[in-house]
Amino acid sequence: MIKVDNLRVQYGDFVAVDDISFSVAPQEIFGIIGPNGAGKTSAIECIEGLRRPYSGEVSVLGLNPWKDRKELHQLIGVQLQDTAYQDNARVWELCQLFSALYPNPAPYQELLETMGLEEKKKSFISSLSGGERQKLSIVLALIPNPKLVFLDELTTGLDPHARHQMWDLLLQLRAGGLTIVIISHFMDEVEAICDRVGVMENGRLVTQGPVSQVSNKFNLGSKITFTAPQLQAGELDGISNVTSVSLNHGTVTVLCQGEDCLPEILTYLRDKGIPYSNLSVTRPGLEEVFLKLVEQSKAQSG
Ligand SMILES: Nc1ncnc2c1ncn2[C@@H]1O[C@H](COP(=O)(O)OP(=O)(O)O)[C@@H](O)[C@H]1O
Ligand SMILES: [Mg+2]
Repeated sequence: MIKVDNLRVQYGDFVAVDDISFSVAPQEIFGIIGPNGAGKTSAIECIEGLRRPYSGEVSVLGLNPWKDRKELHQLIGVQLQDTAYQDNARVWELCQLFSALYPNPAPYQELLETMGLEEKKKSFISSLSGGERQKLSIVLALIPNPKLVFLDELTTGLDPHARHQMWDLLLQLRAGGLTIVIISHFMDEVEAICDRVGVMENGRLVTQGPVSQVSNKFNLGSKITFTAPQLQAGELDGISNVTSVSLNHGTVTVLCQGEDCLPEILTYLRDKGIPYSNLSVTRPGLEEVFLKLVEQSKAQSG
């Protein structure tokens, strides 16, 4: 559906997107994550045909997004990060307008219902809350009945219930044949719905792959928690690969590099006769990857 080869975006001398390559398969949900300013929006705008690449090759549904943008825009749905609508239009008017632009529009009535915007049909855009505007922008992105939809920070501004509704909707649409590219700041969202994820930092695509693989690549170790009221502060510090231990009302949280800590911790507890319960081991997720990246990119920029 999408093939990107060495895409570069420059603003003057400033390199915002630094020769990135990736592809997206049909019916895939591909996520792009990375700190603010990483180049996500600049990259995706080239793929949508809204921005001309400085260099590199981009192919979307077999089309060149910049040269064939008229044709492409009939086939894709785009939700822009900052969309300014005419405030003095009503919701249904905007839906009608968008429907008129496409040969095969999806029934917007249904989309409004799915998004819980049915009651706002006659409202002025200016009277909508932030979350309602966000939902409307997604309805508008789906009106073209697209094969491929781009969503830039789709659930920013939505409450938790609406976010979950949105995920269900996207998984449903994917099952119906849609391919989805999302930019997100919510790692739980990426973990919940994306098949693969690309991580951008300072214009570069530092890694990409299935969500679980990407988390593992960063070698962030594991987190071991258990209940042991008898354990004293500092007791586990000597164990190799343990990076931090915290005690909170009898709950012990141990962060480890590598996976080798657990046997040593268990041996220690047994040898000392310290009882424990509720033991669990978790691998860090994308949230930790993201935080690590932000740290790295701050360190690099001084
Ligand atoms: N139109 C523009 N002119 C100049 N610099 C820009 C422009 N748009 C974005 N940038 C810069 O390019 C970098 C990447 O921006 P952007 O693609 O919006 O990142 P992201 O979406 O990952 O937050 C940022 O440093 C931003 O300030
Ligand atoms: Mg952005």
